[in-house]
Amino acid sequence: MSVRFGSTQALDSVSLSLVEGEVHGLVGENGAGKSTLGKVIGGLYQPDSGELEVFGRQVHRWDTRRAQEAGVVVIAQELCLVPALTVAENVFLGRESRTLGVLRGDLRGRYRDLEKICGFGLPPDAPVHTLSIADQQKVEIMRALARDARIIVMDEPTSSLTADESDRLHEIMRRLRSRGTTVVYVTHFLDDVLGNCDRVTVMRDGRVIRTAPAARETKASLVEAMLGEPVDMVLPERPPAPSPGTAPVAEMREVRSASVREVSLLVRPGEIVGLAGLVGSGRTEIARALFGCDRVESGQVLFGGAVVTAASPRASIARGMAMIPEDRRAQGLVLLRPVLENVTLPHLRRFSRAGVLSRRAERAAVRELVERLGVRPAALDGDVSVYSGGNQQKVLFAKWLLGRPGFLILDEPTRGVDVGAKSRIYQLIVEIAAAGTGVLLISSELEEVVGLSHRVHLVRDGSIIAEVPGPGTSVDEVLQRLFEVGATSPGTEGRP
Ligand SMILES: Nc1ncnc2c1ncn2[C@@H]1O[C@H](COP(=O)(O)OP(=O)(O)OP(=O)(O)O)[C@@H](O)[C@H]1O
Ligand SMILES: [Mg+2]
Repeated sequence: MSVRFGSTQALDSVSLSLVEGEVHGLVGENGAGKSTLGKVIGGLYQPDSGELEVFGRQVHRWDTRRAQEAGVVVIAQELCLVPALTVAENVFLGRESRTLGVLRGDLRGRYRDLEKICGFGLPPDAPVHTLSIADQQKVEIMRALARDARIIVMDEPTSSLTADESDRLHEIMRRLRSRGTTVVYVTHFLDDVLGNCDRVTVMRDGRVIRTAPAARETKASLVEAMLGEPVDMVLPERPPAPSPGTAPVAEMREVRSASVREVSLLVRPGEIVGLAGLVGSGRTEIARALFGCDRVESGQVLFGGAVVTAASPRASIARGMAMIPEDRRAQGLVLLRPVLENVTLPHLRRFSRAGVLSRRAERAAVRELVERLGVRPAALDGDVSVYSGGNQQKVLFAKWLLGRPGFLILDEPTRGVDVGAKSRIYQLIVEIAAAGTGVLLISSELEEVVGLSHRVHLVRDGSIIAEVPGPGTSVDEVLQRLFEVGATSPGTEGRP
């Protein structure tokens, strides 16, 4: 099948066969066409040419309704829940019109059954808009299961889940497989692909490079097929640490907010400080309190040694600080505007001389960043909405790097980006720190936080429980300390 969007050939004569009762991995660089292929399978996009056969029958017309009737369900990369409805209502949405309003008794029973399988522990009566992105992702997964689908396409379903929750999802996949359900698993976590899929299809530039049994692939063979060349995934070397006497660029002193408890930390110019913790441990909330997104109830935030009084994200930006948030789609980009505009929006001053915007300087600066990050397509004038998930992320990165902030908060900077972009982002983090920016780095990938940071704070339940040096500390050590003594165990993390 082929699918074209304007000048982009998103799918170029792609052939794919799915076997009943298999978990089929789908991997490829950002923009390779994975989501597009998933949407064609789910009837959301119509192919320009090609043939589709479903359960042995040639299909001439295929749309979302027909797909659903045939038992084909897609969990899209961009979540599509109804924010005002409750968790349970969303799970059964479209199955039962009567679920709107009060959940009927039998549905409550069905919800409990589903919960037994998933074990996500979501509050069934909470409106979905009150949930974190990770929890919303779980609602999507429950909804797909509620539909008794025969084919489920999961487009990066684990991108906001903890390691523990991902394991549970993999367990669910195995159970689905044993029932004869087919799962198409799109992800950038190659270890998960190798460990959980029966077969893997690698895509590059809208084409299928190959489909092979997972047992015959390795991480290196997948990466090479995805990129067309082998890449080295070693982390770049940290820049030299600033001397301990250097005045901090950003500091928190015994800060309390709704979800942060007595947090003190500081970041010096040129220093990379990591926050390691489980999803839900309060890492993001610490960053939000520091950046002025959440109200600080007591304690102090200091930028450049001065106590911040009227804190707000806007005020922080005005002081030369930047934050790349975790929830990028909702917080970072204006989807219906071009790339160029999205990147330069906060920096128009810099490109103006006496009030006149220098279009040329603007374009040149953005082009350089776009090339370094490998944003594709590299054209600057297309709306951001048509970019693939990972490429939107790179655009957001470019937006904040362009401002050369004095202090930068990165919340999960490599989530959803492909292996090539990952190593580019690592390189950039190290370079901006070497140029004097203080960086606060949050990541669920412990290799990343530990391997890039000078110092790492371990976060649990909204407070910092320990500090370890980045160099010389092993990931196992950090994991052990995060799970140490009492409070939370891996199985109950993030839940009351
Ligand atoms: N609605 C659209 N309009 C125009 N172009 C689109 C649209 N959807 C996707 N594209 C383009 O098609 C190509 C494939 O995109 P797709 O979303 O399938 O990539 P992907 O493999 O899922 O990437 P990622 O890993 O970043 O999610 C990209 O170049 C993208 O910009
Ligand atoms: Mg995608």
